[in-house]
Amino acid sequence: MSSTASLDGSYEDSMPGEESGQVFTNKDKDEPLKWIEKFETEMVDLVDSNCTEPKHIVKTFLELKLDRESRILDVLAGTGLVAELLRSHGYVNIDAIDGRKDMLALSNKKQLYKNFYVSLLGCQYTAPIQSDTYDVLIASGAFAPGQLHSDAFCDLIRITKPGGIIMWSMRTDYGPISPRFANFDAHIEDLVTNGVWRHYVPRKTIKPYVHGSEGYVYTMQRI
Ligand SMILES: C[S@@+](CC[C@H](N)C(=O)[O-])C[C@H]1O[C@@H](n2cnc3c(N)ncnc32)[C@H](O)[C@@H]1O
Repeated sequence: MSSTASLDGSYEDSMPGEESGQVFTNKDKDEPLKWIEKFETEMVDLVDSNCTEPKHIVKTFLELKLDRESRILDVLAGTGLVAELLRSHGYVNIDAIDGRKDMLALSNKKQLYKNFYVSLLGCQYTAPIQSDTYDVLIASGAFAPGQLHSDAFCDLIRITKPGGIIMWSMRTDYGPISPRFANFDAHIEDLVTNGVWRHYVPRKTIKPYVHGSEGYVYTMQRI
């Protein structure tokens, strides 16, 4: 059975034509994109408002001064706003993964990615990607109630090269509203204690982050 995540964060199982691990092809390029384009317009408005998740995490990414050839995975890529920003700074070796084929259709049309994986992450799902593949995983707006939780850490770490970077940005206020985020930082620190990853740079607090909330950018390094 395949599953996909909806925009409001809920899941719909067995979406027709959605196979976990599917790689996009050119034949998908011209499917109807109206609602995706509307979503993207709204996201671009947010980017322009100087208060958005993609912009904040890419700024932190650029501060790391990583190699331009770094192999990057845009995690829960949505319509590709992170990749657009990365590409504008010369980082073009980018793949994407997202649970929704239709969310990715627009970015596919824009030819942002080298490989494009349609697959859920978290819970029992395993990314259709070989271990030790990426220099950098970057996830903007991915960790949120109903989307991605700390149970995804192990598989994200698996597909990152030893020494590679796993970075994400998220709102600071999920702990009190979502039981699945109550122990989020404890899970991070458990993996630090167990020698699986370390903080590459300290967690950064962003004020304001999105919709008036504060945010964090985490930058971990796989050991
Ligand atoms: C808020 S958007 C993030 C978009 C993008 N990273 C950005 O910053 O513009 C959430 C995306 O995550 C995807 N998604 C949500 N939960 C998922 C999961 N568990 N596995 C895979 N994709 C998921 C949705 O399909 C949607 O495209």
